[in-house]
Amino acid sequence: MRIDVLTLFPEGMQPYLRASILGRAQDAGVTEIHLHQLRDYTCEPHRKVDDRPFGGGPGMVLMCQPVVDAVAAVEALDERAALRILLSPQGRSFTQRVAARLSGHERLLLICGHYEGFDERIIEILKPEEISLGDFVMTGGEIAALALIDTVVRLLPGALGSADSLADESFQDQRLEHPHYTRPREFCGRRVPDVLLSGNHAEIESWRRAQSQARTRSRRPDLLKRTERPPAGGEASRGAAVPADLRRGTTARSIA
Ligand SMILES: C[S@@+](CC[C@H](N)C(=O)[O-])C[C@H]1O[C@@H](n2cnc3c(N)ncnc32)[C@H](O)[C@@H]1O
Repeated sequence: MRIDVLTLFPEGMQPYLRASILGRAQDAGVTEIHLHQLRDYTCEPHRKVDDRPFGGGPGMVLMCQPVVDAVAAVEALDERAALRILLSPQGRSFTQRVAARLSGHERLLLICGHYEGFDERIIEILKPEEISLGDFVMTGGEIAALALIDTVVRLLPGALGSADSLADESFQDQRLEHPHYTRPREFCGRRVPDVLLSGNHAEIESWRRAQSQARTRSRRPDLLKRTERPPAGGEASRGAAVPADLRRGTTARSIA
């Protein structure tokens, strides 16, 4: 998968993308991630990309020209069609199911806002999918983009050491995962549950299932109430139960 990111702060994103599993996934060719400085595409003097809002009010608004031109230029760097994603608190909430659907695309183009956000015509022209990290407002889209990239890339085949790591994870099956323990067997008077030391795999499996159900019921009963829809297609083989409607991506059309 190729991921392009349009941002005013590529230097803030780079260290995180180079670390740990994301860095290794790029080194292994599982994904390639390209950061693009939005200011490189502006026609304004002094690399300006924003201006005051018509109608008055506080803050600055990202102008159409730099963003629309940047998207055209970046999309032309690769023949694969990019799914355009604009990070916005007004977008659809990002979830594991959304991540699983996005992981089925060959190419993503993420557009990070800043200041008061985007001139509305950018959204009308580019028709991106708008995605929100949650019901709160950050200063920019970079943290949301990093969260999305991190979540999507670890679903790609070859990104994690073992695909089994994905199998029981929280949200894979409308459940939270069971608790984990490691050495030592006792710490501050707290012992690891005996069943995990028993070597009886059937009992361990059954204990983990019961723990998973119990903590889902107590912490996130809303997950259990959600209607289960049948998993469909190839993405299920990545450990992601994704309803068909969520797997339909909007492939970006070229800019008119
Ligand atoms: C200060 S916010 C703009 C908020 C906007 N004025 C509003 O009230 O809806 C600036 C940028 O940060 C990013 N951003 C902020 N909160 C976000 C969230 N919860 N999810 C995704 N992106 C977010 C978006 O890219 C947004 O354009």
